[in-house]
Amino acid sequence: MVMSKSSIGIIGTGSYLPEKILSNSDLEKMVDTSDEWITKRTGISNRRILDDDMPAYKMGIAAANNALENAGVKAEEIDAIILTTNSPDYLTPSSACLIQGEIGAVNAIAFDMNAACTGFIYALEIAQSFISTGKYKKVMVISCEGMSRAIDWTDRNTCVLFGDAAGAVILSEVEEGYGILSTCLGSVGEKGKCITLPCSFSSEEDKAIRNGGEKYLWMDGTEVFKFAVGAMADASKKAIDEIGITFDDIHMVFPHQANTRIIDGAAKRMKIPEEKVYSNIAETGNISSASIPLGLDLSNKRGILKKGDNLVLVGFGGGLTWGASVIKWCL
Ligand code: COA
Repeated sequence: MVMSKSSIGIIGTGSYLPEKILSNSDLEKMVDTSDEWITKRTGISNRRILDDDMPAYKMGIAAANNALENAGVKAEEIDAIILTTNSPDYLTPSSACLIQGEIGAVNAIAFDMNAACTGFIYALEIAQSFISTGKYKKVMVISCEGMSRAIDWTDRNTCVLFGDAAGAVILSEVEEGYGILSTCLGSVGEKGKCITLPCSFSSEEDKAIRNGGEKYLWMDGTEVFKFAVGAMADASKKAIDEIGITFDDIHMVFPHQANTRIIDGAAKRMKIPEEKVYSNIAETGNISSASIPLGLDLSNKRGILKKGDNLVLVGFGGGLTWGASVIKWCL
Protein backbone atom coordinates (compact mmCIF):
# COMPACT_ATOMS: atom_id res chain seq x y z
CA MET A 1 0.00 0.00 0.00
CA VAL A 2 1.38 3.44 -0.87
CA MET A 3 0.30 6.00 1.72
CA SER A 4 -0.18 9.70 1.19
CA LYS A 5 3.08 11.67 1.64
CA SER A 6 1.50 14.01 4.17
CA SER A 7 0.68 11.30 6.71
CA ILE A 8 4.26 10.50 7.72
CA GLY A 9 5.76 12.42 10.60
CA ILE A 10 7.88 12.60 13.71
CA ILE A 11 6.46 10.69 16.70
CA GLY A 12 9.34 11.17 19.14
CA THR A 13 12.57 13.12 19.60
CA GLY A 14 15.80 12.70 21.56
CA SER A 15 19.24 14.24 21.89
CA TYR A 16 22.56 14.17 23.67
CA LEU A 17 24.98 16.99 24.46
CA PRO A 18 28.38 16.23 26.04
CA GLU A 19 28.89 17.83 29.45
CA LYS A 20 32.29 19.37 28.77
CA ILE A 21 32.00 23.06 27.79
CA LEU A 22 34.64 24.84 25.72
CA SER A 23 34.17 28.60 26.03
CA ASN A 24 35.48 31.46 23.93
CA SER A 25 37.83 32.40 26.74
CA ASP A 26 39.21 28.82 26.70
CA LEU A 27 39.85 29.27 22.96
CA GLU A 28 41.65 32.57 23.59
CA LYS A 29 44.32 30.47 25.35
CA MET A 30 44.61 28.05 22.42
CA VAL A 31 44.70 30.26 19.28
CA ASP A 32 45.04 33.92 18.35
CA THR A 33 41.39 34.89 18.80
CA SER A 34 39.12 36.79 21.19
CA ASP A 35 35.73 36.34 22.77
CA GLU A 36 34.71 39.62 21.13
CA TRP A 37 35.66 38.44 17.59
CA ILE A 38 33.94 35.06 17.94
CA THR A 39 30.75 36.49 19.46
CA LYS A 40 30.48 39.30 16.95
CA ARG A 41 31.36 37.31 13.81
CA THR A 42 29.57 34.03 14.67
CA GLY A 43 27.22 34.40 17.67
CA ILE A 44 28.93 31.48 19.41
CA SER A 45 29.90 31.63 23.11
CA ASN A 46 30.30 27.96 24.08
CA ARG A 47 30.44 24.56 22.45
CA ARG A 48 30.23 21.03 23.95
CA ILE A 49 33.15 18.65 23.47
CA LEU A 50 33.25 14.85 23.72
CA ASP A 51 35.54 13.25 26.29
CA ASP A 52 38.69 11.88 24.64
CA ASP A 53 37.85 8.27 25.51
CA MET A 54 34.22 8.36 24.31
CA PRO A 55 33.48 7.12 20.78
CA ALA A 56 31.23 9.57 18.94
CA TYR A 57 28.56 6.92 18.20
CA LYS A 58 27.88 6.64 21.96
CA MET A 59 26.23 10.08 21.73
CA GLY A 60 23.95 8.56 19.09
CA ILE A 61 23.00 5.73 21.47
CA ALA A 62 21.95 8.22 24.13
CA ALA A 63 19.92 10.27 21.63
CA ALA A 64 18.32 7.10 20.18
CA ASN A 65 17.26 5.77 23.61
CA ASN A 66 15.94 9.21 24.47
CA ALA A 67 13.83 9.27 21.28
CA LEU A 68 12.49 5.74 21.87
CA GLU A 69 11.36 6.76 25.34
CA ASN A 70 9.77 9.97 24.05
CA ALA A 71 7.90 8.09 21.31
CA GLY A 72 6.90 5.21 23.62
CA VAL A 73 8.39 2.79 21.09
CA LYS A 74 10.52 -0.32 21.80
CA ALA A 75 13.85 -0.77 20.01
CA GLU A 76 12.67 -3.98 18.36
CA GLU A 77 9.80 -2.08 16.68
CA ILE A 78 12.27 0.00 14.63
CA ASP A 79 12.53 -1.20 11.01
CA ALA A 80 15.35 1.07 9.82
CA ILE A 81 18.03 3.29 11.34
CA ILE A 82 19.44 6.01 9.09
CA LEU A 83 22.38 7.83 10.64
CA THR A 84 23.76 11.09 9.29
CA THR A 85 27.33 12.07 10.01
CA ASN A 86 30.47 13.48 8.48
CA SER A 87 32.51 12.61 11.54
CA PRO A 88 32.03 8.86 12.12
CA ASP A 89 34.25 6.68 14.31
CA TYR A 90 34.66 4.21 11.41
CA LEU A 91 33.74 4.07 7.74
CA THR A 92 32.82 0.50 8.56
CA PRO A 93 31.16 -0.60 10.73
CA SER A 94 28.72 2.24 10.29
CA SER A 95 27.69 4.19 13.37
CA ALA A 96 24.11 3.13 12.55
CA CYS A 97 25.04 -0.57 12.85
CA LEU A 98 27.01 -0.01 16.06
CA ILE A 99 23.97 1.74 17.58
CA GLN A 100 21.54 -0.85 16.21
CA GLY A 101 23.52 -3.57 17.97
CA GLU A 102 23.78 -1.76 21.29
CA ILE A 103 20.18 -0.56 21.62
CA GLY A 104 18.77 -3.95 20.57
CA ALA A 105 16.99 -2.80 17.40
CA VAL A 106 17.17 -6.40 16.19
CA ASN A 107 14.67 -5.94 13.36
CA ALA A 108 16.21 -2.79 11.86
CA ILE A 109 18.35 -2.34 8.81
CA ALA A 110 21.01 0.26 9.56
CA PHE A 111 23.29 2.48 7.49
CA ASP A 112 25.12 5.81 7.58
CA MET A 113 24.69 8.57 5.03
CA ASN A 114 26.59 11.80 4.50
CA ALA A 115 25.12 15.04 3.21
CA ALA A 116 27.25 16.98 5.72
CA CYS A 117 25.26 19.55 7.68
CA THR A 118 22.16 19.01 5.49
CA GLY A 119 22.18 15.30 6.41
CA PHE A 120 19.14 15.40 8.68
CA ILE A 121 16.86 16.89 5.99
CA TYR A 122 18.12 14.36 3.41
CA ALA A 123 17.47 11.55 5.91
CA LEU A 124 13.91 12.75 6.55
CA GLU A 125 13.21 12.42 2.82
CA ILE A 126 14.68 8.90 2.77
CA ALA A 127 12.74 7.91 5.90
CA GLN A 128 9.51 9.25 4.42
CA SER A 129 10.14 7.35 1.17
CA PHE A 130 10.86 4.13 3.08
CA ILE A 131 7.67 4.41 5.13
CA SER A 132 5.55 5.33 2.12
CA THR A 133 6.39 1.96 0.53
CA GLY A 134 4.53 0.27 3.38
CA LYS A 135 7.51 -2.03 3.99
CA TYR A 136 9.05 0.00 6.84
CA LYS A 137 6.65 1.15 9.58
CA LYS A 138 8.96 2.88 12.02
CA VAL A 139 12.22 4.55 10.98
CA MET A 140 14.75 6.19 13.28
CA VAL A 141 16.92 9.04 12.01
CA ILE A 142 19.97 9.76 14.14
CA SER A 143 22.35 12.66 13.45
CA CYS A 144 25.58 12.15 15.34
CA GLU A 145 28.57 14.48 15.02
CA GLY A 146 31.91 14.35 16.80
CA MET A 147 33.13 17.45 14.97
CA SER A 148 35.80 18.20 17.59
CA ARG A 149 37.69 15.16 16.21
CA ALA A 150 37.63 16.60 12.67
CA ILE A 151 39.03 20.00 13.63
CA ASP A 152 42.58 21.32 13.58
CA TRP A 153 42.72 22.94 17.01
CA THR A 154 45.54 25.23 15.84
CA ASP A 155 43.44 26.72 12.97
CA ARG A 156 41.49 29.73 14.27
CA ASN A 157 39.48 29.91 11.04
CA THR A 158 37.64 26.71 11.89
CA CYS A 159 38.26 25.62 15.49
CA VAL A 160 36.08 28.32 17.04
CA LEU A 161 33.04 27.22 15.05
CA PHE A 162 32.28 23.57 15.81
CA GLY A 163 31.03 21.36 18.65
CA ASP A 164 29.76 17.83 19.32
CA ALA A 165 26.21 16.49 19.82
CA ALA A 166 23.61 13.99 18.62
CA GLY A 167 19.91 14.27 17.87
CA ALA A 168 17.38 11.60 16.93
CA VAL A 169 13.77 11.33 15.76
CA ILE A 170 11.41 8.44 15.09
CA LEU A 171 9.06 8.61 12.13
CA SER A 172 5.95 6.61 11.30
CA GLU A 173 2.53 7.05 9.78
CA VAL A 174 0.64 9.81 11.61
CA GLU A 175 -2.81 11.38 11.62
CA GLU A 176 -3.81 12.51 8.12
CA GLY A 177 -2.77 16.06 7.25
CA TYR A 178 0.07 16.09 9.79
CA GLY A 179 3.76 15.25 9.46
CA ILE A 180 6.06 16.06 6.56
CA LEU A 181 4.16 18.24 4.07
CA SER A 182 6.99 18.92 1.61
CA THR A 183 10.75 18.54 1.22
CA CYS A 184 13.07 20.21 -1.29
CA LEU A 185 16.68 19.08 -1.59
CA GLY A 186 19.59 20.12 -3.76
CA SER A 187 23.28 19.57 -4.37
CA VAL A 188 25.85 21.94 -5.91
CA GLY A 189 28.79 19.63 -6.50
CA GLU A 190 30.75 22.18 -8.53
CA LYS A 191 31.29 24.14 -5.31
CA GLY A 192 32.21 21.01 -3.36
CA LYS A 193 35.80 21.96 -2.66
CA CYS A 194 34.63 24.95 -0.54
CA ILE A 195 34.52 22.61 2.46
CA THR A 196 36.73 19.54 2.57
CA LEU A 197 37.20 16.87 5.20
CA PRO A 198 39.47 14.17 3.78
CA CYS A 199 39.50 10.54 4.86
CA SER A 200 42.59 8.37 5.21
CA PHE A 201 42.29 7.29 1.53
CA SER A 202 42.39 10.81 0.04
CA SER A 203 44.84 11.23 -2.85
CA GLU A 204 47.91 13.43 -2.51
CA GLU A 205 46.30 15.85 -4.99
CA ASP A 206 43.24 16.20 -2.79
CA LYS A 207 45.35 16.79 0.27
CA ALA A 208 47.35 19.46 -1.58
CA ILE A 209 44.34 21.65 -2.41
CA ARG A 210 43.81 22.31 1.24
CA ASN A 211 45.63 24.93 3.23
CA GLY A 212 45.93 23.03 6.46
CA GLY A 213 46.94 19.63 7.81
CA GLU A 214 46.18 16.42 6.03
CA LYS A 215 43.23 15.13 7.96
CA TYR A 216 41.20 18.06 9.19
CA LEU A 217 38.26 20.11 8.05
CA TRP A 218 39.14 23.05 5.82
CA MET A 219 36.82 25.61 4.32
CA ASP A 220 36.60 28.83 2.40
CA GLY A 221 34.43 30.57 4.99
CA THR A 222 33.48 33.54 2.84
CA GLU A 223 32.34 31.38 -0.11
CA VAL A 224 30.34 29.14 2.22
CA PHE A 225 28.78 32.18 3.89
CA LYS A 226 27.61 33.61 0.56
CA PHE A 227 26.14 30.27 -0.52
CA ALA A 228 24.44 29.62 2.83
CA VAL A 229 22.26 32.72 3.14
CA GLY A 230 20.73 32.37 -0.35
CA ALA A 231 20.47 28.58 -0.18
CA MET A 232 18.54 28.57 3.10
CA ALA A 233 16.13 31.29 1.98
CA ASP A 234 15.56 29.70 -1.47
CA ALA A 235 15.14 26.18 -0.07
CA SER A 236 12.55 27.33 2.45
CA LYS A 237 10.64 29.26 -0.22
CA LYS A 238 10.61 26.24 -2.56
CA ALA A 239 9.33 23.96 0.23
CA ILE A 240 6.50 26.30 1.25
CA ASP A 241 5.56 27.14 -2.36
CA GLU A 242 5.19 23.44 -3.09
CA ILE A 243 2.23 23.22 -0.71
CA GLY A 244 0.78 26.65 -1.48
CA ILE A 245 1.34 28.32 1.89
CA THR A 246 3.30 31.49 2.79
CA PHE A 247 5.82 32.39 5.46
CA ASP A 248 2.95 33.97 7.43
CA ASP A 249 1.58 30.44 7.92
CA ILE A 250 4.86 29.27 9.53
CA HIS A 251 5.05 29.15 13.33
CA MET A 252 8.75 28.41 13.69
CA VAL A 253 11.85 27.99 11.52
CA PHE A 254 14.64 25.62 12.57
CA PRO A 255 17.68 26.69 10.54
CA HIS A 256 21.01 24.90 10.57
CA GLN A 257 23.09 26.59 13.28
CA ALA A 258 26.36 27.60 11.61
CA ASN A 259 26.62 31.32 12.22
CA THR A 260 24.11 33.80 13.69
CA ARG A 261 24.80 36.18 10.81
CA ILE A 262 23.86 33.44 8.29
CA ILE A 263 20.66 32.69 10.20
CA ASP A 264 19.76 36.39 10.43
CA GLY A 265 20.55 36.97 6.74
CA ALA A 266 18.37 34.05 5.63
CA ALA A 267 15.51 35.05 7.98
CA LYS A 268 15.64 38.59 6.61
CA ARG A 269 15.30 37.31 3.04
CA MET A 270 12.34 35.17 4.12
CA LYS A 271 10.87 38.17 6.01
CA ILE A 272 10.46 35.90 9.04
CA PRO A 273 10.54 37.79 12.38
CA GLU A 274 13.35 36.96 14.79
CA GLU A 275 11.01 35.46 17.41
CA LYS A 276 9.99 32.74 14.95
CA VAL A 277 13.58 31.66 14.28
CA TYR A 278 15.02 29.00 16.58
CA SER A 279 18.59 29.49 17.74
CA ASN A 280 20.86 27.73 20.21
CA ILE A 281 24.13 28.38 18.40
CA ALA A 282 25.45 30.49 21.28
CA GLU A 283 25.66 27.38 23.47
CA THR A 284 26.47 24.62 20.95
CA GLY A 285 28.37 26.12 18.03
CA ASN A 286 27.97 24.34 14.70
CA ILE A 287 27.15 20.68 15.40
CA SER A 288 26.68 19.88 11.71
CA SER A 289 23.77 17.55 10.89
CA ALA A 290 22.84 17.23 14.59
CA SER A 291 21.83 20.88 14.87
CA ILE A 292 18.25 20.65 13.55
CA PRO A 293 17.22 17.49 15.47
CA LEU A 294 18.80 18.86 18.66
CA GLY A 295 16.79 22.08 18.29
CA LEU A 296 13.62 20.08 17.63
CA ASP A 297 14.17 17.90 20.68
CA LEU A 298 14.91 20.79 23.04
CA SER A 299 11.84 22.66 21.76
CA ASN A 300 9.67 19.54 21.99
CA LYS A 301 10.74 18.80 25.59
CA ARG A 302 10.28 22.45 26.61
CA GLY A 303 6.72 22.47 25.27
CA ILE A 304 7.50 25.18 22.72
CA LEU A 305 5.94 23.20 19.85
CA LYS A 306 2.16 22.79 19.66
CA LYS A 307 0.23 20.20 17.71
CA GLY A 308 -0.64 21.68 14.31
CA ASP A 309 2.29 24.13 14.23
CA ASN A 310 3.82 24.52 10.77
CA LEU A 311 7.61 24.26 11.00
CA VAL A 312 10.31 24.87 8.42
CA LEU A 313 13.49 22.83 8.91
CA VAL A 314 16.23 24.18 6.68
CA GLY A 315 19.91 23.46 6.26
CA PHE A 316 22.98 23.79 4.04
CA GLY A 317 26.40 22.25 4.18
CA GLY A 318 29.32 20.46 2.63
CA GLY A 319 28.89 18.87 -0.77
CA LEU A 320 27.66 21.54 -1.20
CA THR A 321 24.12 20.58 -0.28
CA TRP A 322 20.93 22.29 0.79
CA GLY A 323 17.46 21.24 1.86
CA ALA A 324 14.24 22.28 3.57
CA SER A 325 11.19 20.47 4.91
CA VAL A 326 7.84 21.82 5.99
CA ILE A 327 6.31 19.83 8.83
CA LYS A 328 2.94 20.04 10.54
CA TRP A 329 3.89 19.08 14.09
CA CYS A 330 1.79 16.18 15.33
CA LEU A 331 2.83 15.64 18.98
N1 COA B 1 39.61 35.03 15.60
C1 COA B 1 40.09 36.23 15.17
N2 COA B 1 40.24 36.53 13.87
C2 COA B 1 39.86 35.59 12.97
C3 COA B 1 39.38 34.36 13.35
C4 COA B 1 39.25 34.08 14.72
N3 COA B 1 38.77 32.90 15.19
N4 COA B 1 39.08 33.63 12.23
C5 COA B 1 39.40 34.41 11.20
N5 COA B 1 39.88 35.59 11.64
C6 COA B 1 40.36 36.73 10.87
C7 COA B 1 40.77 36.36 9.46
O1 COA B 1 42.08 35.84 9.47
C8 COA B 1 40.65 37.69 8.75
O2 COA B 1 41.81 38.43 9.02
P1 COA B 1 42.49 39.32 7.88
O3 COA B 1 41.44 40.33 7.49
O4 COA B 1 43.66 39.92 8.58
O5 COA B 1 42.81 38.38 6.80
C9 COA B 1 39.49 38.38 9.47
O6 COA B 1 39.30 37.66 10.71
C10 COA B 1 38.20 38.38 8.71
O7 COA B 1 38.03 37.12 8.13
P2 COA B 1 36.75 36.80 7.31
O8 COA B 1 36.91 35.45 6.71
O9 COA B 1 36.39 37.94 6.41
O10 COA B 1 35.66 36.76 8.47
P3 COA B 1 34.13 36.53 8.32
O11 COA B 1 33.43 37.69 8.85
O12 COA B 1 33.75 36.03 6.95
O13 COA B 1 33.88 35.31 9.32
C11 COA B 1 33.54 32.94 9.29
C12 COA B 1 34.53 34.08 9.09
C13 COA B 1 34.23 31.62 9.05
C14 COA B 1 33.01 33.01 10.72
C15 COA B 1 32.36 33.15 8.30
O14 COA B 1 32.86 33.37 7.01
C16 COA B 1 31.42 31.97 8.25
O15 COA B 1 30.71 31.69 9.22
N6 COA B 1 31.36 31.24 7.10
C17 COA B 1 30.52 30.10 6.97
C18 COA B 1 31.18 28.92 7.57
C19 COA B 1 30.26 27.76 7.75
O16 COA B 1 29.10 27.93 8.00
N7 COA B 1 30.79 26.56 7.63
C20 COA B 1 30.11 25.37 7.90
C21 COA B 1 29.18 25.02 6.83
S1 COA B 1 27.98 23.91 7.43
